[in-house]
Amino acid sequence: MTTANEHDAASWRIVVGVSGGIAAYKAVSVIRQLVLLGHHVEVIATPAALEFVGAPTFEAISRNPLRRDVFENVHAVQHVAVGQHADVVAVVPATANTLARMAAGLADDLLTNTILATGAPVVVAPAMHSEMWQHPATQANVHRLDERGVTIVGPESGRLTGTDEGPGRLAEPEDIVAAILAAARTAERERAAAQQGRDLAGIRMLVTAGGTREAIDPVRYLGNRSSGKQGVALAARAAARGAEVTLIAANVEVAVPDDVQLVRISSAEQLAAAATELAPKQDVIIMAAAVADFRPDRVSNDKIKKESTDDTLTLTFTKNPDILRNLVEVRPEGQLIVGFAAETEADDVARLELARAKVKRKGSDLLVLNRVGWDHTFGREETEIQVLNLAGDVLAEDVGDKLSVADTILDVVVAERSDDTAN
Ligand code: CTP
Repeated sequence: MTTANEHDAASWRIVVGVSGGIAAYKAVSVIRQLVLLGHHVEVIATPAALEFVGAPTFEAISRNPLRRDVFENVHAVQHVAVGQHADVVAVVPATANTLARMAAGLADDLLTNTILATGAPVVVAPAMHSEMWQHPATQANVHRLDERGVTIVGPESGRLTGTDEGPGRLAEPEDIVAAILAAARTAERERAAAQQGRDLAGIRMLVTAGGTREAIDPVRYLGNRSSGKQGVALAARAAARGAEVTLIAANVEVAVPDDVQLVRISSAEQLAAAATELAPKQDVIIMAAAVADFRPDRVSNDKIKKESTDDTLTLTFTKNPDILRNLVEVRPEGQLIVGFAAETEADDVARLELARAKVKRKGSDLLVLNRVGWDHTFGREETEIQVLNLAGDVLAEDVGDKLSVADTILDVVVAERSDDTAN
């Protein structure tokens, strides 16, 4: 279960729309958690919602007057103003009817007016009986909202109002709060990026991502647990910041944005060939891929059969080329090369020393150190990194999701490149 992020320093303006379902009482808990985390919460209740929970409850918990009608405060143009000033608009619970009205773009009450008037992210937490949730009409409406970028939280499966059970139960308030805050943070990051501008415009960048697979026989390979998320995040953020990005992706399953040119490969040798071909044209190379250091000596043409061996199977391996070191050796003048160091060492000081030794060995301008292990980094959303230069100085550190970490790494790249031009 995700929990609300207590480290959120920002205070957001959050509109919580409550539509008329029995789960409306749980909206109170969502509103309360948001207020306690220091956010400004405005509640819009539909008339049906007020059949379930009274206006005084919403006003007391949100610490703000309840908004319910397009024709209140007409002088303040409330039907558009509330949405325009919001950082997030959430609908908790969203009934089948409200989802349908949203999908159709109707504006027949204050809540739907607000949703149409807002540029802020919209988060909906549906709640209804299983039959209504599973109805093709509702599913089509949810699909349409999803395509439009609306975040859908839940519903969960479980005990419903009556004796029935199934999908349709409102998601847990903590999960709804977490989704609302995540949407606010993403929108803020996008705003900041738009303001920050395209500081990588005109830069050609090569990023490698994912984990290579070294064939053993036609059905088996030696691989690693890298998901490629960090490399894809770097490529995505670099492209958003104006760079012309090529991504060499080794067995990456996460979505890659359209503005990134994609080259798919699988093994270390294929990665080496693609990188060697593309490298000379690049201003920046970021080697985020987890490259297998060894490959089986020989690849069996046929599936290795159990019967063909005793109780043990011995494979021998050949070292793969060190792609990063080779790229450093032949790099054209002015090209900036960034390596990654995935280390399992748990001690912070010792891990940093490993990274310092690695950056010297590889000769890259920068090295991004991250800790990996059974429960660290691989495939996860959150990551912790330090960026070192060739001298071993730590230039930046960050803990966060992979997009924010990508921005931190790219900030260092921008700073290093401008230092270079200045010198
Ligand atoms: N790398 C590479 N070619 C290889 C192995 C690694 O280009 N054959 C790159 C990775 O993409 C990464 C950096 O080198 O940017 C460090 O990778 P890592 O696996 O941490 O280091 P290794 O050199 O393999 O050292 P070790 O596994 O012994 O720690």
